[in-house]
Amino acid sequence: MKEKIESYKKELSDLKADTLDALETFRIKFLGSKGIVKELYADLKSVANEEKREFGQLINEFRNLAEEKYNEVKEALSSTDSGSESGEDLTRPGTPFELGARHPISLVRKEIIEIFSRIGFTVSEGPEVEDDWHNFSALNFPPEHPARDMQDTFFVEKGENEMALRTHTSSVQVRVMENSKPPIRTISPGRVFRNEAISARAHCIFHQVEGLYIDENVSFADLKQTLLYFAKEMFGDQTEIRLRPSYFPFTEPSAEVDVSCNICAGKGCNVCKYTGFLEILGCGMVDPNVLEAAGIDSKKYSGFAFGMGIERIAMLKYQVKDLRLFFENDARFLKQFKSAY
Ligand code: DAH
Repeated sequence: MKEKIESYKKELSDLKADTLDALETFRIKFLGSKGIVKELYADLKSVANEEKREFGQLINEFRNLAEEKYNEVKEALSSTDSGSESGEDLTRPGTPFELGARHPISLVRKEIIEIFSRIGFTVSEGPEVEDDWHNFSALNFPPEHPARDMQDTFFVEKGENEMALRTHTSSVQVRVMENSKPPIRTISPGRVFRNEAISARAHCIFHQVEGLYIDENVSFADLKQTLLYFAKEMFGDQTEIRLRPSYFPFTEPSAEVDVSCNICAGKGCNVCKYTGFLEILGCGMVDPNVLEAAGIDSKKYSGFAFGMGIERIAMLKYQVKDLRLFFENDARFLKQFKSAY
């Protein structure tokens, strides 16, 4: 047994482990659960009683030696620079670098812009803090008109220079009409603000996209075809639209537009409340009063406008049931939109 230990000792001192793999092989061979040290302790059972002490000590010594050797080599390997020479495993996968994801509202906003860009719409923007003229008066909301109550306004400054957070992006269409000449074809994405209780379906801050098209002879049929094109591009070619008469101070006639439910394909389900349709936007022919207020000749020009909520489109597109998820910035939610772009 002495010789056996001696030869193992020699093997130990000759050993060169220059990679982590080789070191591991060494550990298993000498110190593993079926390794040499274990085997020697097992052999101890067959040694005569009076020799047990001596051999026990020899094995203990050998074990310490093997452990020292192991630690020594391990330290040497981990302190050397990485690279193949030092034994670093170059095939080991790198530390994962997690890519961020675009926010679903940004994705849908981007997609809406792309869809309308393809048919010649430009993008325009306006201020979030807006005066009464652009948010209300120029859009044919007379003072004290009850329609102003449709949108609960956050006022920033009261009195003569009354300013408010815009309640809709329709304010931007006024600015565009004031600052450019027809033909006008533009969409205006942006944040809007309303004093509303936060729930699964409403928030005090949300996003809209306004659309405006002004030229000679623009008709309601143009509006309908434009919106049908949009709905098919956004929700798929099988999508149908339905227009229902409605009222907005700035359009006449006005309509609300529904798309066929993309969940049940129009057959009826609990999302569309068994109607087969989902409301996505408001629209209409720009009221001549609105054209005139912005300095556009309503005898020569006509136009259509529409406005949609980005959150609403995103909820339908991605089947998100609670609008608040868009504002909570929970990474577990946001991560799911990674592959979309
Ligand atoms: N501004 C409306 C809203 O916030 C949406 C809207 C409806 C915009 C009809 C329009 C339109 O341009 O023609 O609810």
